[in-house]
Amino acid sequence: MPLSAGVPRWVATGVVFALCLLPLLMLSIQLGTGQMGPDPAKRLMQGTGEWGLRGLILVLLAAPMAKRGWPVLFRFRRVLGLSLFVYVSLHLLLFAQVYVGWSVTLLAEELKERPYVLVGFSAWLAMLPLALTSTDRARRWLGRRWKQLHRLIYPATVLAWLHVFWLVRSDVGDALLYGVIFAVLLLWRARRAQLRGR
Ligand code: HEM
Repeated sequence: MPLSAGVPRWVATGVVFALCLLPLLMLSIQLGTGQMGPDPAKRLMQGTGEWGLRGLILVLLAAPMAKRGWPVLFRFRRVLGLSLFVYVSLHLLLFAQVYVGWSVTLLAEELKERPYVLVGFSAWLAMLPLALTSTDRARRWLGRRWKQLHRLIYPATVLAWLHVFWLVRSDVGDALLYGVIFAVLLLWRARRAQLRGR
């Protein structure tokens, strides 16, 4: 039986969105109860960034899982995509507020010192049109161009991974693991698109 059988679609979507926001609630509780260690801003940056990456994996997994008879991620891919965008947008806002205090001078200094920030920002920029055109109305309006536009998921994923790979210093294990997962999922997607194009 499908997971959301008998449940109105908007209720199921609301429940999935609430589940997606649980990590954010956990991060807020840790912050509020002083469990974030000596550098809470850094912990929050890591937390929001990591959940952004995990969300990206779930979104990219949706189609291959559906092909293998497990369509639940595919059914909720829009709300998963929007949730991951919430996490990376919070990540960006944290950076603007805590790291550079909305100062253009400080931003220029940070960019000189940490060029990977620009790569992360480019990933966010590539995701922005995907989030903005995720409604049914935008999809109808864009027609065939919607699919073309949504190929931005490829550069967005590569840039997000490059951002993380660039910034980790000692422990590259996780970054490499993310790299392998993203490579497999993007190659699967590219292969499917190629076969459909024939
Ligand atoms: C798709 C977009 C992005 C993803 C998935 C992402 C992911 C991550 C992850 C996972 C980390 C923690 C890595 C670690 O320490 O192990 C991180 C750190 C960081 N990110 Fe992003 N990021 C993104 C966009 C951005 C943007 C837009 C900015 C700023 C404009 C940014 C600035 C930073 C900075 C400064 C850190 C280092 C924090 C610190 O250790 O002090 N990121 N990011």
